[in-house]
Amino acid sequence: MQTLFHDDVAPAPRALHSGSARADLQRRFARRLQVNPQLSRKLVSYQGNKGAVGFRWLKYKEGFSTALVRQFIERGQGTQVLDPFSGAGTTVLTAMSMGIPATGIEILPLGTLAAQAVAYAANGLPLAAFRAAAHALLDAIAAGDHADEYALKHAAITKGAFPAGTGREIANARKFIARMAEPALAPMLNVACLSVLEEVSYTRKDGQFLRWDPRSGRTVSTKLNKGPLPSFATALATRLQQMMQDFPLLKEHYAGPLPTFITGSSLTELQKLDTGQFDCVVTSPPYANRYDYTRTYALELVYLGYDDVQIKALRQALLSATVENRCKRAGLCAAWGDAPALERVFRMVDQQAALQEVLTILRDCAAELSNRNVITLLENYCTEMAVIVHELGRVVRAGGRVFMVNDNVRYHGEEVPVDLILSDFAEQCGFRCAAIWMLQRGKGNSSQQMGRFGRREIRKCVYEWVKVDE
Ligand SMILES: C[S@@+](CC[C@H](N)C(=O)[O-])C[C@H]1O[C@@H](n2cnc3c(N)ncnc32)[C@H](O)[C@@H]1O
Repeated sequence: MQTLFHDDVAPAPRALHSGSARADLQRRFARRLQVNPQLSRKLVSYQGNKGAVGFRWLKYKEGFSTALVRQFIERGQGTQVLDPFSGAGTTVLTAMSMGIPATGIEILPLGTLAAQAVAYAANGLPLAAFRAAAHALLDAIAAGDHADEYALKHAAITKGAFPAGTGREIANARKFIARMAEPALAPMLNVACLSVLEEVSYTRKDGQFLRWDPRSGRTVSTKLNKGPLPSFATALATRLQQMMQDFPLLKEHYAGPLPTFITGSSLTELQKLDTGQFDCVVTSPPYANRYDYTRTYALELVYLGYDDVQIKALRQALLSATVENRCKRAGLCAAWGDAPALERVFRMVDQQAALQEVLTILRDCAAELSNRNVITLLENYCTEMAVIVHELGRVVRAGGRVFMVNDNVRYHGEEVPVDLILSDFAEQCGFRCAAIWMLQRGKGNSSQQMGRFGRREIRKCVYEWVKVDE
């Protein structure tokens, strides 16, 4: 693959609007906003990893590719790598394959589990032990014990997801895994089970929501016919086989220092990390685009024991990206040791002219918005990302680099230059923004917005920030 970093970059298209705070901000970053033709959609998305050993187990479509991460770590000459939004662990596992210690923070337990499974398979877990456990699991499912206490306790958004027989098989699997003694084997088997839930269900992940086959008994507006569904045991056996096939290749290519996995929110976990601990951050936060991880991964969360209340709490704890998220400022103040620092971060957000410009425009036409909570979404998102950027400014040592993949968004025809706003925060938190690379093709707007505001692409970008000497 051609390297991303050479001179073959073009200046970004001209600012679309003039005489505004957003135009001013774009002018300030104009020389650093560059179209990078090597930066493809495949590289910045899970597409590049979907057939890759280990990464093909649990399809975490929100992920990026190992090829992208490798280039960033090489460019940053990383020796201590961090990903505060670690997802299924692409960054930390790539670092591991390069022999580099890494730390990943992820709030969804299924992301951490997926990454741990790959890390354990690559580091020492014997294939024979996994094979024996896999066979024992399939036997336990076939034996069909009474496992009522392990039956899924559905949340409102998952009721009816599985045929009755499938539900019983899942309960048997949960019972078997819950009683296992070997700690490294349980994540492997759980990941295998999690990875087939969608396939054996009446649902399909579809962008923001689950789509439903009417056989679920739910009232559905859009018809989905999934055809004959495999049994849980059949789908699981196929996945377990694939995992066994991947073992030798993982051991060959990924063996390295076991990453540190932290399951929790970066909004509080970053605070616990040492100042100057890292020299390379490779990450992709949630985008400010209303995407709800707790809906997309509702089946997996229920499998892991989350009930309605816990799913709602998790939705609130995630970085705000949905219209349901409430403001976290008060909660952060209560949890934060250094309240004056936090006040400074909030001030930085409240004084960010381009952000305030969009918020004012949206407030002025709130009555016309299909959902006026997009205003709080944007405010919350930028506030929380400011906290993250502030903390990155502390944990990254001088000369260290941050590489961040993110998309801009547009609401009611108003472009929100997330790339420029976050890069402005970065420059106020001890970084120099070295580049904002844009993909050659941005993202089209939604059909609703297209009808009203015409087709205008929004930037998909990777930012590079360098920590300046103190
Ligand atoms: C775009 S995905 C990152 C995917 C990752 N790069 C990969 O390759 O798998 C963003 C991730 O941030 C996680 N996330 C959201 N809010 C978080 C928070 N407050 N703390 C830590 N992780 C969070 C989401 O669960 C999601 O996995």
